[in-house]
Amino acid sequence: MTNPSLLILPGDGIGPEVMAEVRKIIDWFGAKRGIVFDVSEDLVGGAAYDAHGTPLHDDTMAKAQAADAVLLGAVGGPKYDALDFSVKPERGLLRLRKEMDLFSNLRPAQCFDALSDFSSLKKDVVAGLDIMIVRELTSGVYFGEPRGIFKEGNERVGINTQRYTESEIARVARSAFELAMRRDKKLCSMEKANVMESGILWREVVTEVSKEYPEVELSHMYADAGAMQLTRWPKQFDVIVTDNLFGDLLSDLAAMLTGSLGMLPSASLGAPMANGRPKALYEPVHGSAPDIAGQGKANPIACILSFAMALRYSFDQGEEAARLEAAIEHVLADGVRTADLMGPDGGTPVSTSGMGDAILAALDASL
Ligand code: IPM
Ligand code: MG
Repeated sequence: MTNPSLLILPGDGIGPEVMAEVRKIIDWFGAKRGIVFDVSEDLVGGAAYDAHGTPLHDDTMAKAQAADAVLLGAVGGPKYDALDFSVKPERGLLRLRKEMDLFSNLRPAQCFDALSDFSSLKKDVVAGLDIMIVRELTSGVYFGEPRGIFKEGNERVGINTQRYTESEIARVARSAFELAMRRDKKLCSMEKANVMESGILWREVVTEVSKEYPEVELSHMYADAGAMQLTRWPKQFDVIVTDNLFGDLLSDLAAMLTGSLGMLPSASLGAPMANGRPKALYEPVHGSAPDIAGQGKANPIACILSFAMALRYSFDQGEEAARLEAAIEHVLADGVRTADLMGPDGGTPVSTSGMGDAILAALDASL
């Protein structure tokens, strides 16, 4: 039997540093748990642009299509700000999402006990928070046509189009209902059906799909009210499903509620491949943080938790994923802190690799 394959795309900024820690964790699971991957590495984003003049080489795209899972660090940085839109680092990531057809983006917002003082909200509002935002990732205003900047009489007009087909809505709704079934069986769908036809269709299709999941309690909210409710009392939610643009905004908001933006992973899933595994890309929610890149200051936890999501969603290793998550909780409870986590309670400052080593030690202790 061949080992499952993992394609690693560290990308830009802090991407390579945090990914180096993930590689240590991957090696640990190989050596200590017999979970061995065929790991290969390639370029994406600005790093790929520097090497090939494109943020994603066709060969890399082909490798991503063939891999059992892709792990990505981060893309972008000020060095690339002046580049033409078509070759910006972000285009590499968007091409991966689109061509792999990764329509369901899972973004957990979880408040770690040891960090519940870090939120800008009161502790009792966020303590124990554990919600999941399912963001549609391959359609909507990010990709709808027509788009562009056109001349109209004497002035220019910028156009983007919000467009959703029934099947695009139904498939992401289904993935959200499936998740809700494995969690608290509560799903809230967010759109702007009061202003947008695409929102009306969204609501109708989600309601239709809900008939396949009678055990799940479905509610609907306008996305603006959803943002308000997320800040007022986020624990009212379990799973939220929403479109590409609202999901982009609401997931940043939800992540920040937890006070641990540098801690949150994500999974982008597509349809099942021939081997039954979903096409999948895992990446931290945070960006490339160019201001601290190369200094050993970055927090590798979001990227390591993204690997935990890969274990759970791509490789059926839910127990091993939980082992890794528990090791991270343990390290945090012990007060081990990268710079971004140094809060009122002090703690033991560590570098990026120091955090990786502490997690390895906690994993050893879990055996
Ligand atoms: C995200 C990011 C991306 C997005 C950017 C980098 C293209 O904000 O993953 O949330 O807008 O989807
Ligand atoms: Mg975003």
